[in-house]
Amino acid sequence: MPESAVGTAEDADFPAPGPLSSHGPARVIAMCNQKGGVGKTTTTINLGAALAEYGRKVLLVDFDPQGAASAGLGVNAHELDRTIYNLIMEPRGDVREIIMSTEVEGLDLAPANIDLSAAEVQLVSEVAREQALARVLRPVLDEYDVILIDCQPSLGLLTVNALTAAHGVIIPLEAEFFALRGVALLVESIERVQERINPRLRIDGILATMVDMRTLHSREVLDRVREAFGDKVFNTKISRTVKFPDASVATEPITTYAPNHPGAEAYRRLARELIARGDAA
Ligand SMILES: Nc1ncnc2c1ncn2[C@@H]1O[C@H](COP(=O)(O)OP(=O)(O)O)[C@@H](O)[C@H]1O
Ligand SMILES: [Mg+2]
Repeated sequence: MPESAVGTAEDADFPAPGPLSSHGPARVIAMCNQKGGVGKTTTTINLGAALAEYGRKVLLVDFDPQGAASAGLGVNAHELDRTIYNLIMEPRGDVREIIMSTEVEGLDLAPANIDLSAAEVQLVSEVAREQALARVLRPVLDEYDVILIDCQPSLGLLTVNALTAAHGVIIPLEAEFFALRGVALLVESIERVQERINPRLRIDGILATMVDMRTLHSREVLDRVREAFGDKVFNTKISRTVKFPDASVATEPITTYAPNHPGAEAYRRLARELIARGDAA
């Protein structure tokens, strides 16, 4: 059955946001799930690109030593001498030095590469080790409307740094059985950071990814996620389609690689939903 045939009132669209007359201060959103392969990087790139299409100034922070967000935007971060790692380790550095513009107007990138894996260990002995990323981003908060942090698949110190720098968290969840496994632990980590370091932190929403509404399986998983998280679940869901891996091979967001594809439209809808909920300017 095509998805439109099961459409309900909940499929009502969100309004297209008006243009902004000025930019900043940024709302910082961490894309978190300690499970790999759930769509964190894909969501960071494509939500970022969709927000930029709506005239928002967006900074993507690649905060995974695998550098997938950088690669997905065509940046060969493994050839870079200076990345987010250097800024994290240098109290006096200026993040503008590593920020690059991308092919998408309004979308900038702070790249990462494998160097960042050392930060996890080196930060442990630093003063205010949880605050390093927040310190790095502070000088550019006024230049962006949204800063999206692509976290690595772990709940380690790098992710704690992302949660400390953030106002909100988006949790991408693959619509598969066992998707909810581990989410309780993630929510606990978020609450611990909120209680001890960053009281403003909140969960913006759970995003169902790789959904296949033709299968009973996907629909059941979505029902269980809604039972567990209620209206924290974004109304927008991201369907499973090979266009996403295709776009990353082409090192482009789907919004430019296949602008009319339903996958591109889904991330635009997520951008509209985020703005309509007040979670982005
Ligand atoms: N909605 C989707 N449908 C199909 N494949 C997807 C979808 N979202 C992501 N992928 C693919 O799944 C893999 C993992 O996605 P990724 O965003 O890298 O996850 P994470 O960052 O959580 O590890 C990638 O190859 C990506 O292209
Ligand atoms: Mg990733």
